[in-house]
Amino acid sequence: MSIDQTKSQIQMQQLMVRYPTGKVALSGVTLDIKQGQFVYLVGESGAGKSSLLRTFYGGIRPSSGTLMVQGTDMRQAGETKIRDLRRHTGIIFQDHRLLFSRTVFENVALPLRVQGWKTERLIPRVRKVLSYVGLGDRLWSYPEALSGGEQQRVAIARAMTAKPAIILADEPTGNLDVDTARRVLNYLMDLNRQGATVIMATHDLHLLESHPGRVIQLHAGSLARVEP
Ligand SMILES: Nc1ncnc2c1ncn2[C@@H]1O[C@H](COP(=O)(O)OP(=O)(O)OP(=O)(O)O)[C@@H](O)[C@H]1O
Ligand SMILES: [Mg+2]
Repeated sequence: MSIDQTKSQIQMQQLMVRYPTGKVALSGVTLDIKQGQFVYLVGESGAGKSSLLRTFYGGIRPSSGTLMVQGTDMRQAGETKIRDLRRHTGIIFQDHRLLFSRTVFENVALPLRVQGWKTERLIPRVRKVLSYVGLGDRLWSYPEALSGGEQQRVAIARAMTAKPAIILADEPTGNLDVDTARRVLNYLMDLNRQGATVIMATHDLHLLESHPGRVIQLHAGSLARVEP
């Protein structure tokens, strides 16, 4: 992947997001995230971190303002366009959202199955990403037989399997001990070095010391601090 650190990947101006309940989760957010950046989204509970991440994959639409993600206008884009964009986006949720009725292999293979990959081609790729997160020997386990940290690593493997240009991670280390959290962050940093833009919401501010990145702080739905 060629990385051009000067190229905008996500751009928004005066972004406002209002939920159907009437709650305004974000307002007046103007930001530019460049290709290949590693971004921490911080701020108190309810500040709007998850909401902002959701707008980046079309989970919610902007109510006003502009938002461009990899050249897609997120206010105008139709379902097909959004589906396309998600193929280039790896998403890691805080509650990891693994399918408990499927093996680790099937969970990680999912993004490639969606792209029409055949099983023979899938196996080496899935094996590779699972080895990368230290779970190369757990392909045929079911998620319930894994610890919380292992489940989270399966979720990371799933997010990286299709080599996404953007990885959105919502508190991926939220339920992990410090050592496992560091390891998870090391994986994300590796992916970033390989060219992926990583945007990660976190409350673990101590991680920033060992793993520096660009910090964007939200407060009550607005930008409180933005590092260049
Ligand atoms: N689906 C929803 N419907 C209505 N309001 C919502 C919805 N999701 C979030 N909100 C509200 O929007 C605001 C921002 O929530 P958000 O989940 O983005 O915060 P957050 O920064 O991710 O918080 P946390 O650190 O607790 O995860 C909060 O006031 C929240 O109650
Ligand atoms: Mg959140």
